[in-house]
Order: sequence, then structure tokens, then C-alpha cells
Amino acid sequence: MASNDRKLIAVIGATGKQGGGVVRALQASGQFKVRALTRDPGKHRDLAEVVVEADLNRPETLKAAFEGAHGAFLVTNFWEEGTDELKQATAAVRAAKDAGVKHFIWSTLPDVEAISRGKLHVPHFTGKAKIDRVVREAGFAHHTFVIAPFYYQSLSGALAPQKQQDGTLGWALPIDPTVRGIHMGDITQLGDIVAGAFAHPDEAGNGAYLPLVGDFMSFNDIIETLNREGHEFSFKQVPTEAFVTLFPGAAEVAATFSHFEAHTYLGSDSHDEIALANKIAGRQPTKFATWARANFPAREAFSATAA
Ligand SMILES: NC(=O)c1ccc[n+]([C@@H]2O[C@H](COP(=O)([O-])OP(=O)(O)OC[C@H]3O[C@@H](n4cnc5c(N)ncnc54)[C@H](OP(=O)(O)O)[C@@H]3O)[C@@H](O)[C@H]2O)c1
Repeated sequence: MASNDRKLIAVIGATGKQGGGVVRALQASGQFKVRALTRDPGKHRDLAEVVVEADLNRPETLKAAFEGAHGAFLVTNFWEEGTDELKQATAAVRAAKDAGVKHFIWSTLPDVEAISRGKLHVPHFTGKAKIDRVVREAGFAHHTFVIAPFYYQSLSGALAPQKQQDGTLGWALPIDPTVRGIHMGDITQLGDIVAGAFAHPDEAGNGAYLPLVGDFMSFNDIIETLNREGHEFSFKQVPTEAFVTLFPGAAEVAATFSHFEAHTYLGSDSHDEIALANKIAGRQPTKFATWARANFPAREAFSATAA
């Protein structure tokens, strides 16, 4: 498609896991021109055709960030110190609307406060859900909600297996490992849904909720899958009361697992939404076993076999 015919999409979080996948999927589609947004464009010149500064904490940077864009993708980073997701997202929504953006896509999560009837406090979920209304009421011609799953990547990253007291490598977490409640996925594939939604606003741009789900598992399913590939991971369920004292933020992690166990990650039967997301993405997301084989190899087991 000629450069001038391609619609411009501005992507917040373009240097991160979600936004990075969005940039790559938009580029691969050939239908869009990408404006990658980052707080430090000098450091990330090769990110996309155009790289522009945007800092959600400095709304004055957002006018130029969204100027002339047809679409915008927004993710906020709860885990970055000092982040106020509602304040950041509200600033981005306002700036995008003022700049004339037609299609706004927000990466949200389920409202655990409502799902658990006020019993569980999971601000990184509920705080995002509260932003949905701001997006809905802004009056964009089209808007879409995408829902990121529990990243497969977390299992080899932030939540990597640890050495346990009995000498095994594995997880000690406050969740019943037999309960199937975790909607999971390869986060790099969220971009396929986002690019598909920008390409099909009639089907996806009317406030649809589009979750990325590659697999739906219990912790026992996760461990069996990994151990079939040659790992020897263990799992121990620990009491929530003990877990919450282990590190700052542990209470939030424990409440998240309580939510998965009681209500599932998405909090409801999301069969139709998942089917629509896969249709919009134009592909089935990767299953955990396939992802793990390529990205979470049991190195010692492989080298022992090779020897
Ligand atoms: N881990 C999981 O399993 C999981 C599941 C569902 C949802 N989530 C959610 O995912 C979100 C994080 O997304 P991610 O995984 O893509 O994060 P990430 O890989 O850590 O990247 C964070 C991105 O946020 C951008 N950013 C942070 N503060 C910014 C600011 N003030 N202005 C502009 N950009 C800013 C960074 O851009 P620059 O540094 O380039 O400016 C970077 O691109 C969190 O809110 C978390 O709750 C995580």
C-alpha cells in the first residue's frame, strides 16, 4: 500500500511488551503507518518509521504525540513507581480526542472489585476497568477494549521458578493448583488483535471486549506441561496469610491469585469474546506447550540428551 494511503496509528508503550507487539503487528499488516511513542525517543530511534516523545505524566507532550493520528493504542504501566493509571489514561484520552483520533484502543483488565462483590482488592485489574468508562464516554467514532492475559512470559520473568526449601526448583504460591482459572497467552500476540481491530472497526470498534487467550490452565496444568518438556518443577500451595508478608506488593499478588481461583482471570465465561478476538486477529493464539517448547527450554535436560 502506498505510504500516503496508510492510516497513522500512535502507540503508547511501544518499547514495552504490549505496545511492542502492537507496533510489530501494525507494521506486518502493511495497512498502517506507526508512530511509536516513548519517553526517550533518542534511545529508541529504530522502533518504527516515526518515533515521537510522549510522557503520560506530562500531558503537554501528548498533543504532538496524537496529532494527525487516525488511531491510538494505550497501555498504562501499573507497576512503574508513581503511576496513577486513571490520571494518565484520562490525559491520553483527552489529548487523543482533541487531536481528532477516530479509533481509540485501551488495554484493560476485568473489574475484580465488581466481580468479587468488593471482597478482593486488585488495583492493577480494577483500576484499569474503571478507565473503560472514560474511554466509552469520550465520544470517539470507534473504541475497542483489548484484555491482556496472564503472560506466558511472566513464568520465565517476574514470576520465574525459585529454589524451594526442599531443594527443588518451582513455585510456592497462594493458589489451589488443581483449579483451572488462568487465562494465559503470549503477550507479543496482543498486537494481532489490536491491528485487526483497527482494520475492522465495524466489527471491533463499537466497544467490543477482545481478550487474548492462548490457553486456560491450572498451575498443575502449567507444571505438567513444562515437566513433559524435561523440567522438574515443583509446586507448593502456601497460605495467603504467610505469603502476604514475604515482599512489598505480595498482598496484591495474593489477591490476584485468589481472584483466579474464585472467579477465573477473566471473571466470566468469555467464550464469545475470545472467539471474536481470534477472528479479528485472523489467527489462533499460540498454546502454552508450543510457546514453552520454543521459549522455556529445559536446557539441562536437552544437554544431557545430547551428551
Ligand atoms: N504481566 C502480566 O501478566 C500482565 C497481565 C495483564 C496486564 N498486565 C499489565 O501490563 C501493563 C504493563 O504493560 P507491559 O507489560 O507492556 O509493560 P512493559 O513491557 O514493562 O513496558 C512499559 C511501557 O510503558 C511505557 N511507560 C511507562 N510509563 C510511561 C509514561 N509515564 N509515559 C509514557 N509511557 C510510559 C514505557 O515506555 P518508555 O519507557 O519507552 O517511555 C514502556 O513502553 C501493566 O499495567 C500491567 O498491569 C500485565
